[in-house]
Amino acid sequence: MKKIGIGRTAEVYDYEDDKVLKLFYSAFSVKTIEDEYLIAKGISTTTSLVPRVYDIVHIKNRTGIVYEKIKGKMLSDYLSGNIINARRIIRKFAQTQKRINNINVKAIPNYTGKLRQRISSSCLLSDPEKKTVLKYLSTINNNEICHGDYHPENVFVDQNHDFKVIDWANMFVSNKYLDIARTYYLIKSGRSLNGKTKLGSLIEWFGRQIIAKFYWEEVKAGKGRKEYFLPCLFIIIITRYDEKIEQEKKGIYNYVKKNKEEMLKAMDVREGESDNAV
Ligand SMILES: Nc1ncnc2c1ncn2[C@@H]1O[C@H](COP(=O)(O)OP(=O)(O)O)[C@@H](O)[C@H]1O
Ligand SMILES: [Mg+2]
Repeated sequence: MKKIGIGRTAEVYDYEDDKVLKLFYSAFSVKTIEDEYLIAKGISTTTSLVPRVYDIVHIKNRTGIVYEKIKGKMLSDYLSGNIINARRIIRKFAQTQKRINNINVKAIPNYTGKLRQRISSSCLLSDPEKKTVLKYLSTINNNEICHGDYHPENVFVDQNHDFKVIDWANMFVSNKYLDIARTYYLIKSGRSLNGKTKLGSLIEWFGRQIIAKFYWEEVKAGKGRKEYFLPCLFIIIITRYDEKIEQEKKGIYNYVKKNKEEMLKAMDVREGESDNAV
């Protein structure tokens, strides 16, 4: 089988007729893979933004999901080759995320409290701090679908110039500003696995800052942005720390140290005040 892609959870191979096999590393449990399968399948019944989902297969000691093959370019590569149109492309990228956030949550058969779990096990928060953040998460829940890892390496531009979104393993349901904050963070500060084939050296750092600015232009006027964005960014960055990406750890640690007190204060919504915060 020809390997056509690589991620942090899996390798992706060409499979029979117009399909790919996303073969997870053996460290991932079958349950995690089944979750991704059920989520992607559920989402794919509601929108054409997702490749079709076929089967779960077992190969030796590894498990994989068979997806429809997307014929096109990864958005990060497409951007590097179209930097002149970056603003327009990022607009469509933000609009696509909005479509995801608006998918009817009832259509999705399986989702979990993944974000809450990550907060509960965070190594940057004490127990009372976790309680504050978890309470805040309950307060701001809007039942919006969050992809959970929406960035230009998980979006493809196909032959018809349509966007297709992959890698739904981290989907959760909450407030869309958590999704927007993660996207903003990943564009600005996330490290890709392979600078050469992913974001490309041309746009690596400088390009990120420009793209983050264009993205911000698209989301800054949204309803609720002023109250939700910064606390959500803080929460997202806290959970990113535990993904153990060495190049990001120091930056995250310093950011959390600097902003923790203010952010926890902003999140500490007392009984009776919660209605005003929504
Ligand atoms: N349906 C697909 N069609 C074509 N290429 C794909 C498809 N799914 C994944 N890939 C390729 O494999 C890479 C890794 O897949 P992804 O689902 O993002 O894995 P991970 O969860 O490990 O990040 C992608 O960046 C992409 O290049
Ligand atoms: Mg991925």
